[in-house]
Amino acid sequence: MNRIFLASLGVAMAVLTGCDNANQSTTTTNTDTVLVKVVPATLPDTAAFRDTTSAQPTALYILKNGHAQAAVTNYGARLVSLIVPDKTGNPTDVVVGYDNINSYLHRPDTYFGAIVGRYGNRIAKGHFKLDGKEYTLPTNDGPNTLHGGTKGFDAGIWTGKQLSDRSVQLYYLSTDGEMGFPGNLQVKVTYTLTDSNTLRIDYEATTDKATVLNITNHSYFNLNGQGSGTINNHLLMINADGFTPVDSTLIPTGKIEPVAGTPFDFRTQTAIGARINDNNQQLKYGHGYDHNFVLNKSKDSLAIAAVAQGDKSGIVLMVRTDQPGVQFYGGNFMKGTNPIKFGKKDDYRSAFCLETQHYPDSPNEPSFPSTELKPGQTFRSTTTFSFSTK
Ligand code: GLA
Repeated sequence: MNRIFLASLGVAMAVLTGCDNANQSTTTTNTDTVLVKVVPATLPDTAAFRDTTSAQPTALYILKNGHAQAAVTNYGARLVSLIVPDKTGNPTDVVVGYDNINSYLHRPDTYFGAIVGRYGNRIAKGHFKLDGKEYTLPTNDGPNTLHGGTKGFDAGIWTGKQLSDRSVQLYYLSTDGEMGFPGNLQVKVTYTLTDSNTLRIDYEATTDKATVLNITNHSYFNLNGQGSGTINNHLLMINADGFTPVDSTLIPTGKIEPVAGTPFDFRTQTAIGARINDNNQQLKYGHGYDHNFVLNKSKDSLAIAAVAQGDKSGIVLMVRTDQPGVQFYGGNFMKGTNPIKFGKKDDYRSAFCLETQHYPDSPNEPSFPSTELKPGQTFRSTTTFSFSTK
């Protein structure tokens, strides 16, 4: 039997058995010689990402380094796939996504893999003041503005340019007044897959009027493979002594509180779900974890923000950033209603996000690090997601 046949047999068996993890099927068969152990994760079909009905065509860009692969679409500059080897070498797709552009365009918004902005996370009641002037934004999350408003960067069609087989650059012009924000903001995001299985995201932005900016990537990770069930048994370390507690609408109170003695203490690796049902008001407000952690200062320009490990795959993700915070979101609003890659569903808490960023609602909290960008300045930021196994 040849390998291609075995691979297709694996796919068929995975479909027939409805196995939990399309990446890690352990289905076996007694046919003449072989054990079919693994159904390797594959990239989506690039043709399924061509849409010419919108103002600008959409596409899928592929990055490869010989061990790992990534796919990025210019719709929302979204990371669609990120395939890395698990501890047995089995290619595993660790980010949630759809396998076609129509699902991204027409499904209720989940921000899967998107670049969110102009202001990622929340601005209280859709209002902020800058240089004495009041700005009003559309609200889309109860009384607040979330991820840039009703049509944020995640729903824009960016201009994509493949720089090499390792790198793609995406451009977006957010016009003066778009979603209520001042200034024409030119944004450039570059995804690079390095030889050492690091996905590096570089952000750059300039404006022609003073504005506020908080831009991040909203990938949903499951290190056992997307669609493979709960992430509550993943181990997680977050390099933060403090976090920003929130009110019932997830707006920070303005205080920074120590994580010590709370379910927010992830300074040593802890299972994500170990304390999730504790009687804790912050966990109740967040419906689980949905909080900004104040990252410990470091001499490294790219400090370690977090390390997560898949309990089944042994895949380890290390996140580094130059941003002051990270929003750890535990997939509390995932409902299992959206059909994601490999015939799976986006089940409740089957993925987590580590959104490196400034703190939520900074434009209304003078004590938080500033998110203001002025004409003549260039905003630059980098976050890396590095993969290894244990
Ligand atoms: C962010 C928010 C969450 C939720 C998700 C998207 O991470 O903090 O509350 O809105 O985006 O569902």
